Amino acid sequence: MPELKLKHGDVAMLEGQLSLEVKGGEVLISGGLHGKGSKVVIPRAKSVPLEVEEDALVTYTLGQDGKVEQLSERTIPREWDALISEIIQRRPKVILVMGNVDVGKSFFTTYLANTMLRHGLRAGAIDSDVGQSDIGPPTTMGLGIFERPVALLYEVPLSSAYFVGSMSPSEHMLEFVVGVKWLVEHGLKKADMAIVNTPGWIFGGPGRSLQLYTLETVDPDIVVALQREEELEHLLSSVPPARVRRLPVSAKVRSRSSAERASLRAMFLGKYFEDAGKLLLDLQKARLKRCYLHTGRPVDVGTLGAQAQVLHAEQMPEGVLVVTKRKMDENAIRELEARFGHVRTITQGSERNVIVGLTNDANELLGIGIIERIDYERGQMAVLTPVKNAGEVAAVQFGSMRIKPDGEEIGTVKQGTF
Ligand SMILES: Nc1ncnc2c1ncn2[C@@H]1O[C@H](COP(=O)(O)OP(=O)(O)OP(=O)(O)O)[C@@H](O)[C@H]1O
Ligand SMILES: [Mg+2]
Repeated sequence: MPELKLKHGDVAMLEGQLSLEVKGGEVLISGGLHGKGSKVVIPRAKSVPLEVEEDALVTYTLGQDGKVEQLSERTIPREWDALISEIIQRRPKVILVMGNVDVGKSFFTTYLANTMLRHGLRAGAIDSDVGQSDIGPPTTMGLGIFERPVALLYEVPLSSAYFVGSMSPSEHMLEFVVGVKWLVEHGLKKADMAIVNTPGWIFGGPGRSLQLYTLETVDPDIVVALQREEELEHLLSSVPPARVRRLPVSAKVRSRSSAERASLRAMFLGKYFEDAGKLLLDLQKARLKRCYLHTGRPVDVGTLGAQAQVLHAEQMPEGVLVVTKRKMDENAIRELEARFGHVRTITQGSERNVIVGLTNDANELLGIGIIERIDYERGQMAVLTPVKNAGEVAAVQFGSMRIKPDGEEIGTVKQGTF
């Protein structure tokens, strides 16, 4: 097994796939302290810096594309350390990390939280990047508490998660903003500070809105702006200048192609559902959220006359909702419209493969699931999910994607309808 004798101040880049063991001395990996006996695994397509704190001996094995490269200088810009020293001294409660894609936001979050840990401070990291969520499954935002150092953000154990409903926040602005706030509040109960890692969606009307309202609701003490040039200035103009800290991007940042991102997303989703089973939910007990179904007063389907195909109907303030065995024809819809005003229709089976979030009464996400079937007559929903206990599920939140258990995205739905 290759070994490396390292001197205080030496720097190396660890590129996955690789596993490393510290045999003696002390090293910092992504800012986290590792002493004798500590083992670190870096997966493929990921890279992290190692810095030697105390003369050290490490052994390692390389997998596919793995590499250990000794460098002549640090990969952490000096400005980062100055800011982190300030944070350790001032101990702000909420820090928001902002930046375009591939600027090192997740790495900065990890490096900061690991460094805090070395100084006896516990950080809660909130990963709001729903598509590539390091903490929590895709389509959710997660909170992880740094109890021990990690090389990569995804190793932080999940503490709480919030279901957004899709791989992108674009159709879920409210869920995004509410979820970030919810996770920050949870983080502050469990840790000394909350670090919010935001998505790299910074341009255009909706992107600007997402960033602006996140800033307003989270109200961070410090906004860390990781920028290459001045690409964040249009957003920073709304932040009190005393709270903004501009940081340069590391020259060692490694970017990912959009194809690489898409395949990673599918892989993470597929992995999540690997040990999923069928859970049968009683819809008299589990509330349905983010949809129209089960929000009205039940209507006796017998009173709908000719609509023999109707399995379920309910009167909502906006009109009537009917679920039918087959797609309703125009005439039948017009007949109902004449009696009830607005008519919303659902065809049995169209719920299939829609992604859902399963929560308890405290709104804690227990897990995500894929709808297999709703039995409208019995009032039951079959969901494929790793959540095991149906009794714990107090609510089902509807998302806006259809996915297959292997993680493949097979379409979208307008949230609340299917
Ligand atoms: N200062 C640094 N030193 C060494 N490596 C770094 C540094 N900053 C970033 N990297 C590496 O660059 C890669 C991209 O960084 P990271 O994933 O943190 O970017 P990001 O802005 O979160 O990207 P995304 O927009 O995809 O979320 C990672 O492999 C990370 O380890
Ligand atoms: Mg990231």
